[in-house]
Amino acid sequence: MMQNIDGKTRTCGLIGNPVEHTLSPMIHNTLAQMKNHNLVYVPFRVEEAGVEHAVYGAYELNILGMNVTVPHKSAVIPFLQEVDRLAANIGAVNTLVRTEDGYKGYNTDMTGLYRAMMSEHIKIEDAGIILLGAGGAARAVAFMCAHYQAKQVYMLNRSVEKAKQVAQEVNSAVGRACIVPMALSDYKKIPQGKYLAIQGTSVGLYPDVDAVVIEDAEFYQLIHTGYDLIYKPAKTKFMTLVEQAGGKAYHGLKMLLYQGVDAYELWNQTTVSEEEAMQIYEQMKRALGIDE
Ligand code: ATR
Repeated sequence: MMQNIDGKTRTCGLIGNPVEHTLSPMIHNTLAQMKNHNLVYVPFRVEEAGVEHAVYGAYELNILGMNVTVPHKSAVIPFLQEVDRLAANIGAVNTLVRTEDGYKGYNTDMTGLYRAMMSEHIKIEDAGIILLGAGGAARAVAFMCAHYQAKQVYMLNRSVEKAKQVAQEVNSAVGRACIVPMALSDYKKIPQGKYLAIQGTSVGLYPDVDAVVIEDAEFYQLIHTGYDLIYKPAKTKFMTLVEQAGGKAYHGLKMLLYQGVDAYELWNQTTVSEEEAMQIYEQMKRALGIDE
């Protein structure tokens, strides 16, 4: 996997803390090899106090692009030259793209989720959506759904106040009442119909694999497609309940794949085909021991 590094090699990397478990070097170094690009991608562990120096320093070192992961996705923003509109609304960036006078920030976590859904023929435009959660991840998903013209998003959260706050933020950013906040326990008030349901809470994440936000089988009758942002385990309880009610269910690993693919395309002004992406996906599944 190691490239032949020479005087023309370009560098990309990841800043975060911790960074030791990331799959991103595998994604980008494999893409570079497949595309015959002279590029290496390396992880950089950065402390909170060092974020400003890290961003400006990376620019001075002529680094082509950076990914940003937890906990620095918002902290980097003041040090960017420009921020893409979706990322600015969300208030978090995970990709820095070199421009003439600084980095421009993007949120490919969300464009990647959108693209992962497109690759499964899951439609956001005009769709009726149920979104579980109102934390950091679900909030970003709410912006993504509104940005890509979802018809209505019923945002269900244990603490309804948080859902109301997110709904207000998103609705005012997009200028329409797209997000409808609800308490988790009020799911019976969702109008009859079939919905895309996105599971955006941390409930069900390994090792708590038997946990799910809503247990009631009746709820799952509302769902034609369930998309869990979690990919460990590869079959969450939420996914099992969706399938038992006759729906299709997906885990979040393709979201991780496409956030990388989108970043790679932005840095290299290239296009990664579905076939190329699927080769990377197979490697990711092998690395995580997912077999399906
Ligand atoms: P993340 O960054 O992964 O989104 P977060 O911001 O801490 O993490 O958000 C966690 C989400 O999971 C929230 O929507 C949270 O609901 P509350 O806002 O009511 O806390 C939800 N969550 C966590 N544990 C939960 C549980 N046991 N039951 C229902 N929802 C839960």
